[in-house]
Amino acid sequence: MSKGMNNKIVIVGEGRVGKTSLILRCCKGEYSDNQESTINAFYLEKTIQVNDTENLNMYIWDTAGQERFKSITPMYYHDAVCAIIVYDITFKESFDKVKLWVTELTQILDTSKLIICIVGNKCDLENNRQISKQFAEEYSQSVGAHHFHTSAKNNRGVDELFQYIGQEIFKR
Ligand code: GTP
Repeated sequence: MSKGMNNKIVIVGEGRVGKTSLILRCCKGEYSDNQESTINAFYLEKTIQVNDTENLNMYIWDTAGQERFKSITPMYYHDAVCAIIVYDITFKESFDKVKLWVTELTQILDTSKLIICIVGNKCDLENNRQISKQFAEEYSQSVGAHHFHTSAKNNRGVDELFQYIGQEIFKR
């Protein structure tokens, strides 16, 4: 079981897919339709209950997804226990970025120890979906990642995502 400041989670992915929105929804219960682009990295803390008696703290780091603010270096994620790779289900190109992230993380980190979650966000916009659920789930499975669907806007799947991560960290 790991506890303390070690429980660093990084959230990466294409710009505007909803990384900041997921963190704000999870940690503060907030959401804004006008969420501004992240320029610097920052983190928020989330405490979850992992069994009847124990709490586990997670430190969730947000990053700039847009190229013009891009400042992510391996330094930033080398000590992460979990990487959340987010794409937007209504924007096919954001899934291509997921693949690039998987490649980059596998090259730099020991992925047998890293928890990888691939998250299709904005699932409130189901009518505009460009990536099939089956395709996303099969791809995730093929790279040893767990797949989730979320809507930061409608608060769907967000608790499930972070509960899963907390449980996985707790097991280690
Ligand atoms: P960068 O900081 O540029 O990397 O963006 P980001 O990935 O952090 O995305 P952000 O949370 O800033 O959200 C981008 C836009 O998408 C904002 O206008 C959000 O309101 C919107 N958005 C985020 N999550 C959802 C969602 O679940 N559904 C819908 N419909 N819009 C969302």
